Amino acid sequence: MPTLRDIAIDGLSHMQESGQLRVAVDEEARAILRGWMLAQRQGGPPAPQAVPPPPVQPGPESPQQADMQGVEEKLAYLRERAQQWKAARALGTLRDTMVFATGNPHARLMLVGEAPGYDEERLQEPFVGKAGQKLNQILAAMGLKREEVYISNVCKFRPAMGDNQGTANRAPNDAEIAACLPLILAEIRAIRPGCIICLGGTSAKGLLGSNASVSALRGQWHECQGIPVRVTYHPSYLLRNESLSAKRAVWEDMLAAMEHLQLPISAKQRSYFLPA
Ligand code: URA
Repeated sequence: MPTLRDIAIDGLSHMQESGQLRVAVDEEARAILRGWMLAQRQGGPPAPQAVPPPPVQPGPESPQQADMQGVEEKLAYLRERAQQWKAARALGTLRDTMVFATGNPHARLMLVGEAPGYDEERLQEPFVGKAGQKLNQILAAMGLKREEVYISNVCKFRPAMGDNQGTANRAPNDAEIAACLPLILAEIRAIRPGCIICLGGTSAKGLLGSNASVSALRGQWHECQGIPVRVTYHPSYLLRNESLSAKRAVWEDMLAAMEHLQLPISAKQRSYFLPA
């Protein structure tokens, strides 16, 4: 039987999906919601279930109901819901094309960026432009292929910049992150990777609810819905800053993820980007 929390989250998700971004809550409700939010972000104990969950019904109506299916089905369902994500549409500040995710639904490593840019919107796949090529290089250095990991974004639509946007991109703002957040959180619950790497501060803001800088957040483990999270610089930062120290900082974050996932690490890999 669904818990009170499930029902409340489901109801609120529906309202958000239909474009209602504000609800009036009294102090008591606010305290309860805050507690649930913290528990969910920190992967705290789920609300107690009176009896086992009901059998899967076809055509689930919300990301929460997607929790009850197989990973591929859940992701296919979420992709479909994302196409018509009314909360994003309602803002009027995001472009129309939805860019979902790419990679292996059974991946142990999940990488989360901020939002699609010009190239990603054109090809409808995350990280296929210059930042994506840099990400592919980082993955190759880790001994991983793009197809072996799961790559997604906190915001599923390219942020709009007016009629003459051309190839220009911008990071999603707080409202745009909040509108799309239920989708990435549902992807994380579906995949349950061994760990997540937030690529840049916008991703960390969504998954960790923190406004702190990447330099303040990196170098330690955080948690999102019970999954260990590491924060590192966005690949586009490395395109702007070619210093050895910037490369080493990102590489140390990747080494931490590799260690956590017990991936093989050679002595050569350990020494990448150290001063000679
Ligand atoms: N930057 C991101 O954060 N995500 C993409 O998909 C592409 C560039």
